[in-house]
Amino acid sequence: MRAVSFQRLALALLLAVLAQPGAAASEVNLYSSRQEKLIKPLLEEFTKKTGIKVNLVTGKDDAIIKRLETEAANSPADVLFTADAGRLHRAQALGLLQPIQSQSLEEAVPAAYRDPSGHWFGLSLRARPIMYVKDKVDPATLSTYEALAEPQWKGRICIRSSDNIYNQSLVASMIATQGVEKTEEWARGFVANFARRPTGGDRDQIKAAAAGQCDIAIANTYYLAGMLNSEDAAEREAAERLAVFWPNQNGRGTHVNVSGAGVTRSAKNKDNAVRLLEFLASDEAQRWYAEVNHEYPVKPGVAWSDTLKAWGEFKADSVNVAKLGERNADAVRLMDRAGWK
Ligand SMILES: [Fe+2]
Repeated sequence: MRAVSFQRLALALLLAVLAQPGAAASEVNLYSSRQEKLIKPLLEEFTKKTGIKVNLVTGKDDAIIKRLETEAANSPADVLFTADAGRLHRAQALGLLQPIQSQSLEEAVPAAYRDPSGHWFGLSLRARPIMYVKDKVDPATLSTYEALAEPQWKGRICIRSSDNIYNQSLVASMIATQGVEKTEEWARGFVANFARRPTGGDRDQIKAAAAGQCDIAIANTYYLAGMLNSEDAAEREAAERLAVFWPNQNGRGTHVNVSGAGVTRSAKNKDNAVRLLEFLASDEAQRWYAEVNHEYPVKPGVAWSDTLKAWGEFKADSVNVAKLGERNADAVRLMDRAGWK
């Protein structure tokens, strides 16, 4: 008799806890621009380890930020996960994120790859080097992004349009190190060397170079890695015609960016949100996540995939990626003035 009523009491308590809207001890709501298949297995691992259920909402990068902005304080989201420091900075500037302190995140994520005030943390690293057609370009003639403005590259460069945030962040990184004036002068020469009016995404630049439309493509490495590992033989063949050149190795280093996450201002499951971020920065999650996305782990010492190993080690720009967001508006205006379509 007594045992039964105790069980009933326990059940009533459990139901009371579960009934609390949005604040259940055992869940976290994630808004992610990462495709479900590229993150779900990790989230399942997190749930297995912690008992915290992850409710995943996926959408396009800019759309999920817009959604968070519209929902404001009523948003169920606890964590925003998106690509590019420029976007993470924008979410922060819109007041959508809150600063968090976590020793394990600060130890795992190098200072250059997170917001200095803790609003967001890089969780994977993407590099945007020079890619060249192997039978057309002698890599000894390559050196820096800056040198791609020289006349020898006239009509030989493919790169996507200036409305793309990856290029905005690349230009922002140059503004951060050498100022607007010098960067603008560079951009005019660089644009004059384009083989065609910018069109398509990063993959399309690689394909255009492989097809003979240009000798140089600027693209994020994971696109090339994705093509090299593609099930489509034509994609593999196209990618194999190109090689990676790491620019600016004797100076500031190759431009890098992050995908990353922050805890939302509206978070009702803040502790769980921090635990999720900490898990995503763990060795195990770093290795898996970087490998399926063909990106680099942010955490030093975590093993790289074979594709990345084949391109070798490189010196990455050490400018804090938060600067890419801070200089984004300057970059957008500069590219427009330089005629970068
Ligand atoms: Fe991308």
